[in-house]
Amino acid sequence: MTDCQADGEGANSPMELYEKLNAQGEKVRSLKTAKAEKAEIDAAVQLLLKLKVDYKQMTGNDYKAGCPPSENVVMSDNGPAADGADDEDTVDPWNVATSNAKGVDYDKLIVRFGSSKIDQELVDRIEKVSGQRPHRFLRRGIFFSHRDMHQVLDAYEKSKSFYLYTGRGPSSEAMHVGHLIPFIFTKWLQDVFDIPLVIQLTDDEKYLWKDLTLEECRRFAVENAKDIIACGFDVNKTFIFSDLDYMGASPEFYRNVVKIQKHVTFNQVKGIFGFTDSDCIGKISFPAIQAAPSFSNSFPQIFGGKKDIQCLIPCAIDQDPYFRMTRDVAPRIGYPKPALLHSTFFPALQGAQTKMSASDANSSIFLTDTPKQIKNKVNKHAFSGGKDTVEEHRKYGGNADVDVSFMYLTFFLEDDEQLEKIKQDYTSGALLTGELKKILIETLQPMIAQHQERRKQVTDEMVQQFMTPRPLNFNF
Ligand code: TYM
Repeated sequence: MTDCQADGEGANSPMELYEKLNAQGEKVRSLKTAKAEKAEIDAAVQLLLKLKVDYKQMTGNDYKAGCPPSENVVMSDNGPAADGADDEDTVDPWNVATSNAKGVDYDKLIVRFGSSKIDQELVDRIEKVSGQRPHRFLRRGIFFSHRDMHQVLDAYEKSKSFYLYTGRGPSSEAMHVGHLIPFIFTKWLQDVFDIPLVIQLTDDEKYLWKDLTLEECRRFAVENAKDIIACGFDVNKTFIFSDLDYMGASPEFYRNVVKIQKHVTFNQVKGIFGFTDSDCIGKISFPAIQAAPSFSNSFPQIFGGKKDIQCLIPCAIDQDPYFRMTRDVAPRIGYPKPALLHSTFFPALQGAQTKMSASDANSSIFLTDTPKQIKNKVNKHAFSGGKDTVEEHRKYGGNADVDVSFMYLTFFLEDDEQLEKIKQDYTSGALLTGELKKILIETLQPMIAQHQERRKQVTDEMVQQFMTPRPLNFNF
């Protein structure tokens, strides 16, 4: 068991967690007394902090040595509220912001959210179990955090399969390059594990949150489905659904929504999502709708009514609050907790202080952008880690850690050696900002042109096929 796994999720009661905390506090003290290696002390302190966060979450109270928990505490495995109040980074489904030019501190986020790091051991294991070279998103730590992935692999090795669930909130016609990240990775997972996939289009969510009509949201769902299909998903293994359609068409789905709604209080969603008294009641109950696809019996046409098929959700970490809630509810309604794989954020053009977001056109490269628009946006807006003059840059080199063009290349340039060489040349000053941007432009232009070409081939009939509730080519 790794340190990351030895967390509060393993504890079944507040008392068990309290005892773990006592033991971990003792361990930290003895390591310090014995003047152990700094790394060892740091790891023990990190685990202690994480256990404290878990304890607060489970009991609603701060851990105090010598004060065991009372027996009537309400248990919950939700992470702390995603409001970033005690931390400088804000990460929730609506906002991502940090003051650090290198981007969000993802290690801290793992501790705060109570997830586990995707370490080399897990990457190696995925390689072993799937028999495929790990995707570059895994090799480069772009998918960096998980919940229960080892459990998914343990079961898969024993021939117990699982299914994938991901989604998109169709808030506009055009998706941006950042939205592709979970879909590219999901496609890879579907290919290497050969498993079914359900994709939720939350047109209802966008209606509730944005100034859009129901008709617009439904239309955006279909337009976005075309971009998703253009990522190459196999129609025999993939079901894409609009909430506005499927909720009414599937009694089983709606039953799960209602079950979830009964087991989550207003207080809990306020804590997790920051809802206030003036939010409409649609928003307050929406999380149950995003949770429901995590349970296999929401899709009887695919899983024949089975309720115990393990679900794995790839998404960026902004969606985690929904699934902390889902994992909290799951055992209480007799279902397995969904597992998760979390990605980092594809940054805004202006810098990694925020994620690329469709609501700011200048921060984003859209899947509809022309080669010229891509070139102009990168040249004009992509934040550079280069120096002010060519002379200074040659002398001192650039800072790849804050350079948006370099960050984008880490997402999309397949060749590890080429990427490393670019980093070295940029850092040494041999490669200038303009040259780095040119490499990025030449990487993005064909990638997006090819996406547009594939999207053109997606007909209305194909969309209809993907979006029709039907059996997929699997026997569970
Ligand atoms: P949405 O439409 O905001 O985002 C769709 C997916 O893209 C991820 N994402 C990003 N990934 C990397 N870099 C970025 N800059 C970036 N921006 C967005 C999101 O994490 C998400 O995975 N409520 C959801 C829709 C949804 C969903 C799900 C998502 C319903 N069920 C299950 C994931 C898993 C939404 O509005 O996503």
